[in-house]
Parts: sequence; C-alpha cells; structure tokens
Amino acid sequence: MIHIKVPATSANLGPGFDTLGLALNLYHEISVEQSESLQSSVHWNHSEQALSDDENFVIHGMNAVFKHYSATAIPFNLKMIHCDIPASRGLGSSAAAYVSGIVAGLYLLDQPIEKKLILKMASDLEGHPDNVAPAIYGGLMASCMTDQDILCQTIDLKTPLSFIALIPDYKLSTSEARAILPESYSKKEVVFSLSRLSILLCALQNGHYELLHHATQDLLHQPHRLSLMPDSEKLIHLSQNELVYGGFVSGAGSTFMLMCNSEHVDQVISLASKSLSIGLAKWSIKSLHLESEGTLWEVS
Ligand code: HSE
Repeated sequence: MIHIKVPATSANLGPGFDTLGLALNLYHEISVEQSESLQSSVHWNHSEQALSDDENFVIHGMNAVFKHYSATAIPFNLKMIHCDIPASRGLGSSAAAYVSGIVAGLYLLDQPIEKKLILKMASDLEGHPDNVAPAIYGGLMASCMTDQDILCQTIDLKTPLSFIALIPDYKLSTSEARAILPESYSKKEVVFSLSRLSILLCALQNGHYELLHHATQDLLHQPHRLSLMPDSEKLIHLSQNELVYGGFVSGAGSTFMLMCNSEHVDQVISLASKSLSIGLAKWSIKSLHLESEGTLWEVS
C-alpha cells in the first residue's frame, strides 16, 4: 500500500500568471493498494465531498500513468483519506489530485516514483505547471513549459511571510475564469505586468515586502477575474491596508490571498472578518504558511 500526501497551492501571486506558485499547509491525502479482485474500489472518508470516478482527478492521474506506459489498468482500492483543500477555489485541489493519482499509478506499475516525471505528467494534465510544481516540490516556485520539458526553480524567501486565505462560499471553475481572459494584450498591459513580476521576484528574495502592494498587480488576469468575484472592492481595500503587504487572486479564484507579517496575522484576520461579514458572499478566513516539503509518500 502507498500513502500519499500533497499540499494545497496558490498560483500566479498576481503578475506570475501560469508561472509562479507556492505550497500551503492544507492537504489532500489518499492511500492506494492493488485490488485482489478484478474490480477497483473507491472509498471516501470525507463523504460530503464524494465525486464520481469521472470527476475524480486522482483516477485521471492513475489512468495517465497507465497510458504513458501503455499498460493495462491495474485494479486498485483507493481510499480518499482526507482533503481540506476546498474544490474550485483557486487553491490547487485539481493539481493535488492529479499529482497523488500519478504517484499512485507509478506505484501500482512498480515504476520509479520520480518527481521530474510527476511534474511533466501533471503539468500536461493541468495545462500549466504553476500549481503542480510547488505541490510536488514545496515552497515557492517559478516554472515554465518548453516543448519537451518543464523548467522550474525554487525561490527562497528572505524572511517569513504569513498568508491569509479569504475563501468564499462560491466556486469559480478554472475553465470559466480562463475563458473570460482576452485573446491578446496591448504592449502597455504586458509591460505593466512584466515589470511588476520582476519587482515581485526581487522583493520576495530580498525581503522588501513593502513593495508587494505594487508588485502583486497585473493587467493580464486579475482585473478580469475580480469582475467575476462578489465583494472584490472589499478585497482590494483589505489588500491596501497598512498591516497587509499585498494581496492577489489565488490561482483562477475564487480565493483572495493576503500577505502580512506573522505579528499582524490576528489583526488582519479581525479586519477581514469585520469587512467581509457584511459582504455578498460568506467568507471563511484561514491563516496559512508556506509548506516546504511538497508531496510525501510512504509505502508499507
Ligand atoms: N495559472 C492558472 C490560472 C491557475 O490562473 O488560470 C489555475 O489553475
């Protein structure tokens, strides 16, 4: 049997559209063993989130591995042990499910479980590597798809940063949140976003977090996505508070992420709860931190 644990992720960080992502301490956990019968089974410990096999990306991940090796599918017993990553909220629930399914598929076929291969396969399934790279390796990562390969680099934070996830009760599907983006951008919009991305990377590495207010802005996706998000004016207002370094739409939304100093977490949570208590959506507020280990597995 293999036990697999994959963290949540938050992609883009504002201007790093489809390239930046970081791992956070919410988890998706499964176990898989080969079935002794010819039938596969799926057992949900968290039955309120149970999905059909077609909707279950863990199974898509396993099937991708069987296909990659042109192998006959191996019957399995899959246990969906735990998942505190909310679905369709921009916190990498699909990336975590694909990654765990790929690890499980490699285990079932008795193939080496190598992170580089998992990254390639999971990025192909997701269509972009920004969630899967940190889900696999942990930390904050920049990644890029070339014709054959996925390039990725870890970005070390100079000093710790706290993350406060503002998670609404409504879902936003990635396909819907990608469909509203324009087909092309002006030079001005591209330069605006690239310049913020450059400053963002330097500010994170050098600990100049006072620059994050400006450095988390972009014109490629956030203005379009914020238009789909109720309470967006409140979110922007919160991100501009003096106790907050900056804020961004997490992945494709609907979560909005605030960053602050650990000393200010309680005050920022209290500000956010007050502001959002009279909002259009119902918001859950979670204090999170960077997760450095990425995907873990144990064979027993
Ligand atoms: N980079 C992706 C997007 C993340 O913004 O659409 C969501 O999967």
